[in-house]
Amino acid sequence: MTISGTTSTICAPRVRGGPELLVELDRAGAEPLHRQLADGLRTAIRTGRLAPHTSMPSTRVLAADLGVSRRLVVDAYSQLVAEGFLLSRHGSGTRVATVDAASAPQYAEPTRRYDVDFLPGSPDLSSFPRNAWLRALRQGLAETGSDSFGYVDPQGLPVARAAVADYLRRTRGVQADAQHVVLCSGATQAIALLGRVLGDGELPLAMEDPGFWLHRIVLRHNGIEPLAVRIDDDGIDVDALASSGATTVLSTPAHQSPTGVVLSAARRTALVQWARAGHLIVEDDYDAEYRYDRAPVGALQGIAPDRVIYVGSTSKTLAPGLRIGWIVIPPQLVGAVRLSKSLADTGSSVMDQLAFAQLLTSGGYDRHLRQMRRRYLSRRNALLEALAHYLPQATVLGAAAGVHLTVRFPDGYPIPDLVRRAAAMRVNVEPLAPCYADPATAPPGLLLGYANLTESQIKAGVAALARAAR
Ligand SMILES: Cc1ncc(COP(=O)(O)O)c(C=O)c1O
Repeated sequence: MTISGTTSTICAPRVRGGPELLVELDRAGAEPLHRQLADGLRTAIRTGRLAPHTSMPSTRVLAADLGVSRRLVVDAYSQLVAEGFLLSRHGSGTRVATVDAASAPQYAEPTRRYDVDFLPGSPDLSSFPRNAWLRALRQGLAETGSDSFGYVDPQGLPVARAAVADYLRRTRGVQADAQHVVLCSGATQAIALLGRVLGDGELPLAMEDPGFWLHRIVLRHNGIEPLAVRIDDDGIDVDALASSGATTVLSTPAHQSPTGVVLSAARRTALVQWARAGHLIVEDDYDAEYRYDRAPVGALQGIAPDRVIYVGSTSKTLAPGLRIGWIVIPPQLVGAVRLSKSLADTGSSVMDQLAFAQLLTSGGYDRHLRQMRRRYLSRRNALLEALAHYLPQATVLGAAAGVHLTVRFPDGYPIPDLVRRAAAMRVNVEPLAPCYADPATAPPGLLLGYANLTESQIKAGVAALARAAR
């Protein structure tokens, strides 16, 4: 075990029965040591420096090696056990957990904030329309009988499903009506429910590669190993999809996650043809509300409603914490998805459905989006400017859309070092590699969320990133 402080690096003897590992403990730093230790071990597990099933040293041995109290090591281990990175079994010590838990989402503890957090996918949380939401909730409650507060249709309240269907028809060209909408708690639950309904060994499911890493984990968690279909500058490679043998594909045609490319017209036609030949598309329309240079392309679902399952949520428009999402489902699958939702949680919060329906029908949602679009465009421009100025070696990919940018670095660029050094400067950036089915084949790149940062934070964050890159 190597222990380094702010001014010196001390090489301690190899831990008895434990792995050789670098853990940086900055004894003069503001961060408590147990948190530094947990962060160091977590990073080692994430990056594969500590492989799954590795036996960890006992807390007593590690405490002695690090010259810290045993309590401190116990706290760090407990934290990582709670997060799923370590497994602790009575009698067999502590081991590194398998990859799924290690690559599962990280959620910042409220106390562990970065000065600049480029976490991709977040809207401006401070702009959540609190007053409009409260008004909508009050109005929704006033107009609703008490029967709605019981165990109601797991598919969602008819009034909320109708409001969502109307919104999607109007803004995304989705062919939707209330009977074919299932309200759920975000796109993540939509993918889990669909995974249960569609996924079995007989019906192989494909995903874009690169794609949203969380969806890959959710599918795996539901027993599906998604086939990887490559992405190029035109979006998903439909020929590769056709030869993959998949019967269903999870795709992000309006703004590919994470590369940001928009599915080209020729590919849209080819993908729809593929679907019409007896296949299904799960269209994740996760951030189509934000296209800054032109009107967004309409949803694929509008062209082939019988072959496309449409998924969306309020995570990029209002707040991920709301956990409101929707699925528009071809008639033949409504019953199965409804049952899956019912068995998952008997339905989403009725209070939230009432407020959201009111916000949609009152025009409050459209107003909020118009305001946010302007703000995010300025933030995106600030990020582009800062990248051109401070990090000219980074190439920006994709269309002017969404709430994140994907940037590529020259081949061989040491992204894990950059991420680690940036974190030490209290700047959080996410690597592109986990989006690849095989992260080892990923080109060097970063995902940079900008919507939840002010323009001055963006500039300061990119300047710090450039210093970290040196
Ligand atoms: C590709 C993609 N789809 C969907 C979502 C939204 O997920 P949820 O609605 O569960 O918050 C995200 C959020 O980051 C995303 O990146």
